[in-house]
Amino acid sequence: MEEIRELATKFERYSAHSHITGLGLDDSLNAREIGGGLVGQKKAREAAGIIVRLIKEGKMAGRGILIAGPPGTGKTAIAVAISKELGKDIPFVQVSASEFYSSEMKKTEALYQTMRKAIGVRIRDTRRVLEGEVVELDYSMVPNPYNPTQKIPESARITLATKKEKRSFSVGNRIAMQFMYSGISEGDVIIIDKETGRVTKAGRTGSEKRYDIDVEEIVERPDGSVEKDKEYTYVVSLHDLDEARARRSTIFSLFTSESREIDNEIRQAVDEQVKEWIEQGIAELIPGVLFIDETHLMDIELFAFMNRAMESEMAPIIILASNRGFARIRGTDDTSPHGVPLDLLDRLLIITTEPYSREEIRLIIETRSAEMGLLLDQGAIDKLTEIGYKNSLRYAIQLLAPANELAKIRNSGKIEIVDVERAESLFVDVSKSSAYLKEWEKKMLT
Ligand SMILES: Nc1ncnc2c1ncn2[C@@H]1O[C@H](COP(=O)(O)OP(=O)(O)O)[C@@H](O)[C@H]1O
Ligand SMILES: [Mg+2]
Repeated sequence: MEEIRELATKFERYSAHSHITGLGLDDSLNAREIGGGLVGQKKAREAAGIIVRLIKEGKMAGRGILIAGPPGTGKTAIAVAISKELGKDIPFVQVSASEFYSSEMKKTEALYQTMRKAIGVRIRDTRRVLEGEVVELDYSMVPNPYNPTQKIPESARITLATKKEKRSFSVGNRIAMQFMYSGISEGDVIIIDKETGRVTKAGRTGSEKRYDIDVEEIVERPDGSVEKDKEYTYVVSLHDLDEARARRSTIFSLFTSESREIDNEIRQAVDEQVKEWIEQGIAELIPGVLFIDETHLMDIELFAFMNRAMESEMAPIIILASNRGFARIRGTDDTSPHGVPLDLLDRLLIITTEPYSREEIRLIIETRSAEMGLLLDQGAIDKLTEIGYKNSLRYAIQLLAPANELAKIRNSGKIEIVDVERAESLFVDVSKSSAYLKEWEKKMLT
């Protein structure tokens, strides 16, 4: 019993691209057949490797990349691999173009904020912080107002210990969410910035091994007081600075929510401040990467805005992904390659991803299930390979989790062909589900 529940929670933590650790290139930037969790797609990976170098050398600022290819050919996977290669200091923001359309703010505002999330500022500073080993952490959970099936922390109580003392604090929802998202638990040494509430994890104490994919740094329980001034460098995004300034400069600060519009004056003031810091030698600008999936959902207004914003000295590197060939540019009657306006296309480097061979699909499925700790017999692998080849790779990968549940219900430690077939009959892929609804609509009309 115990074990099944553990497996189930472990399962949920695997996002679609968690097996990807990098581009899997050798020193001369040639792609290994399998590397970094990626299989095949060598040309695209090698091109991405050059882009990573250009980004690290600061030669890509304000320019863009378009990854074009059919669905399920690894466009998002390659973007994730690029972010892994860049390291955690370089901001990497991933959105779908659909996220720019919300009722809470103008679409161009949403795009602008997202762009500024992808530009980092590395700051050297002395901060008032709380630092210590977490010896106790209790969340007070409430249902997510947007999704009652989920619970989110409303607040938390935390006790931090140094070699000298122990202190307890109660923190609000923003900090509690950060604890949860960064997986803070007892034994971690963390630093909380008293003013901004930013939480950073310094490492773990002791040598106790945890079943984590991340390799964590082992650190000692800190000396001195929990509350102290600490000199350190950290990376914030321009958007973080915008928000902090917006909060300070308005009497409505108590009522502000995460997603409000920010005045351009505030952004200008932040930019000036950052430039001043750079001149004083206490800050450095790190243009990061903004990955926009489903580019065809952007309309002409968003494209025009982005094109202009890319000219600014404070622009991130933009990676667009598209699975459309020629498409109408949203908001116009014109068509263009990938639905992207020509003036923007002019500044993009284009990488294409190609459909996988059967053998590559088999390898991807094997790599993927090994990473998830699943056992499959030959028949199941063959079946999934066929599904991946005929329907889509994404669908084949998505079937792994339900097939594993079905195998467990049969009390089998191995996924067999029956489990895959049953999973396939219960869950359809998008082409089938959309065809089904089309049929249905036809019937309703006649
Ligand atoms: N070359 C590859 N090697 C390993 N896994 C891959 C590869 N290409 C795609 N995948 C995996 O297959 C699934 C679908 O790929 P994805 O990147 O979402 O495709 P796209 O963005 O082109 O639609 C994802 O789970 C992805 O991680
Ligand atoms: Mg994708």
